[in-house]
Amino acid sequence: MHKGFALWFTGLSGSGKSTLSERIYQRLVAAGAKVELLDGDEVRTHLSKGLGFSKEDRDTNVRRIGFVAELLAKHGVIAITAAISPYIETRAAVRERIENFVEIFMDCPIAVLAERDVKGLYKKALAGEIPHFTGVSDPYEPPVAPDVRVDSSTEDIAVSEERVWTLLKDRGLIPLSW
Ligand code: ADX
Repeated sequence: MHKGFALWFTGLSGSGKSTLSERIYQRLVAAGAKVELLDGDEVRTHLSKGLGFSKEDRDTNVRRIGFVAELLAKHGVIAITAAISPYIETRAAVRERIENFVEIFMDCPIAVLAERDVKGLYKKALAGEIPHFTGVSDPYEPPVAPDVRVDSSTEDIAVSEERVWTLLKDRGLIPLSW
């Protein structure tokens, strides 16, 4: 019916990873797919409980998510992941282990994220109250050649969803009839 694959979202906090991944997840569920959503915030309360935000801890977090996604995809399940996953090298290491890997880059200017500031974290980070906050006081290495780049500050979410959906069909990962 569909292939096992990883749909890997990467981008800064508040860039829309959770929102877009949730929409794709719901659409896949409605189509009858076998699919799991590994959201960064949820993973950190279970699988990665106790990890912080040092480079080492983030890499451990991202590798764990990658490992679970690898197992799921190997058994024909669609694994959607939505963690910042800030380091190119770590994302590449995960990608190498998963046969079908689709990378979605949620791109959004810091100014817009700071303005929205849904969780109130940017305000604190910019005031120097959160050390090592991604994009402010900690690195984010954007993908050089993502499969889809979404400018979430300007693009309508329905359009982004459609672009991802179409790509999955074009790659033969989900049926054309979906
Ligand atoms: S990752 O770097 O390890 O991939 P992950 O996606 O799991 O990050 O967690 C990011 C979330 O943790 C953010 O959306 C935010 O709510 C919260 N957070 C708390 N501290 C930080 C920080 N220093 N940098 C980034 N996000 C943080």
